[in-house]
Amino acid sequence: MPHSCSLPLLVLALLPTLLSINSQPSQPNAGRQGGEWRLLQASVGISAMHMQLLHDNRVVLFDRTDFGRSNLSLPDGRCRYDSKDTVLKTDCSAHSVLYDVITNTFRPLMVLTDTWCSSGAVSPDGDLVQTGGYNDGDRAVRSFTPCGDGSCDWVEFPNYLSRRRWYATDQILPDGRIIVIGGRRQFSYEFYPKNDDNRGSSSFLTLHFLIETRDENENNLYPFVHLLPDGNLFVFANTRCISLNYRTNTVVREFPSIPVRVPRNYPSSGSSVMLPIDENKDSLDVEILICGGAPTGSYTQALQGNFIRASSSCGRLKVTDKNPSWAMENMPVARVMGDMLLLPTGNVLIINGVEFGTAGWELGRSPVTRPLIYCTADDTPTGRFSIMAPSPRPRLYHSTAALLHDGRILIGGSNPHRFYNFTDVNYPTDLSLEAYLPPYLSPEHDKIRPRILSADQLLRVGQTFSITFQVAGYLEASSLSARIVSPPFTTHSLSMNLRMVVLKSAGVSRSTSDKYVLNVAGPSKAEIAPPGYYMLFVVNSGIPSSAVWIKILSH
Ligand SMILES: *[C@@H]1O[C@H](CO)[C@@H](O)[C@H](O)[C@H]1NC(C)=O
Ligand SMILES: *[C@@H]1O[C@H](CO)[C@@H](O)[C@H](O)[C@H]1NC(C)=O
Repeated sequence: MPHSCSLPLLVLALLPTLLSINSQPSQPNAGRQGGEWRLLQASVGISAMHMQLLHDNRVVLFDRTDFGRSNLSLPDGRCRYDSKDTVLKTDCSAHSVLYDVITNTFRPLMVLTDTWCSSGAVSPDGDLVQTGGYNDGDRAVRSFTPCGDGSCDWVEFPNYLSRRRWYATDQILPDGRIIVIGGRRQFSYEFYPKNDDNRGSSSFLTLHFLIETRDENENNLYPFVHLLPDGNLFVFANTRCISLNYRTNTVVREFPSIPVRVPRNYPSSGSSVMLPIDENKDSLDVEILICGGAPTGSYTQALQGNFIRASSSCGRLKVTDKNPSWAMENMPVARVMGDMLLLPTGNVLIINGVEFGTAGWELGRSPVTRPLIYCTADDTPTGRFSIMAPSPRPRLYHSTAALLHDGRILIGGSNPHRFYNFTDVNYPTDLSLEAYLPPYLSPEHDKIRPRILSADQLLRVGQTFSITFQVAGYLEASSLSARIVSPPFTTHSLSMNLRMVVLKSAGVSRSTSDKYVLNVAGPSKAEIAPPGYYMLFVVNSGIPSSAVWIKILSH
């Protein structure tokens, strides 16, 4: 079986000891081995501050509403009249867009209230549920239900939330509710939908941990949250982390602080992922990986024009250990405002961001345009990090990234300015969409790339099902796996709700010369995979298929 981080037929070059990996093209790993960048749209008219892929392979993109006109008009002469908007009371431009991955087209959507720096999740039925924002939108819940006929648009529920939620984090729960945690000067959490016994204006619970870990500006923004298989929530803020029983509002345990004492959440904006949960293992190990961040004081210093180098450290914590301790490693280059995503292979892509400064308008310098791939497996003779090919476009503050069903990464956004500024500024507002194609998409791997022909698309937890797929070339049964990945809500370097489960395999059999049937057990419980839509990938020797969407039903 090949080493799990090297691709077959390819030998990734040893990491260069090169410091400025964001300099010119034609560095090591450019070309196929470093992946490939493609411009999808030169402009979709808005800058993609927030991104959510839905199960019809369309992506809801949205920005703030309070910076004036965007570069895209609303259809049919429609306008938004908002007496509370801080810039334009009448605005006939769009601040949200629906991008169609299959056709590479987009259409404007209409949001009414301010969605600035908000949060979201996908409901078990596949609707985007977006929470909070700023000003007249800070207590709104908005939903978007996908449709086939081009008629769907945002629906808003103003003042639904009991507290204002600006820079909060959302997590889908095993029962299909969404928990909304934190936000600017909100050291509390609440639920969507509200419980019957949790209605009214005081329906929130105080979380003291967020008070204890707030920064020198009284902020504790976009905490990192992951639903653990024991049903508790991993919550990380500043340098500390806990396991929270949200039902009883008790801290079950406090894990060790991350040893390199650099704050990791906004505005120090590192990123965090829960590594794939493998149901084939005897013990269900759960590991959290956090990379990047910015030292204390970086924000204040950047406001004064002094851009401090970000952190290059990554910490990995096995939260299922009795006495866990952080394993620390350094990325080849420091990074703040990077996005971390799980690739279908189970490795982690670290993309976007800068080397100096912090999150905040005008506060980042030296874009890091080369993604990194972090090898998740322990067998890593050449080191965990591979440096990929550089993007021609810097993606700084307010940029986003999402894994698509075909294995490409959709990249958008970057607007480090208060308004849309295209000239006479460092790092102009970027309205484009790009795709990054990781090395596994290189055509030379097509021979062994699985193609899913059929799979059950509705599943209950624990249910066994079979996947029929085709592989033209060699099938490496011992490295074959099926995995499900959730489509995260992406903003501000966070991929909220991102999780991957490697499904328990019950064996593969050949049906005809190039067709196979893989029997797998669906996720064993809702704490491992909450109800909703997931992308199902089959991976053969490190080469993933395109995904089909499956839906895990509520009980
Ligand atoms: C957006 O509109 C402005 C003002 O009309 C124009 O200068 C700019 O080139 C446009 N940018 C893009 C990417 O379309
Ligand atoms: C950015 O855009 C805003 C609004 O259009 C304008 O007032 C401001 O002067 C621009 N800033 C720069 C540096 O061009």
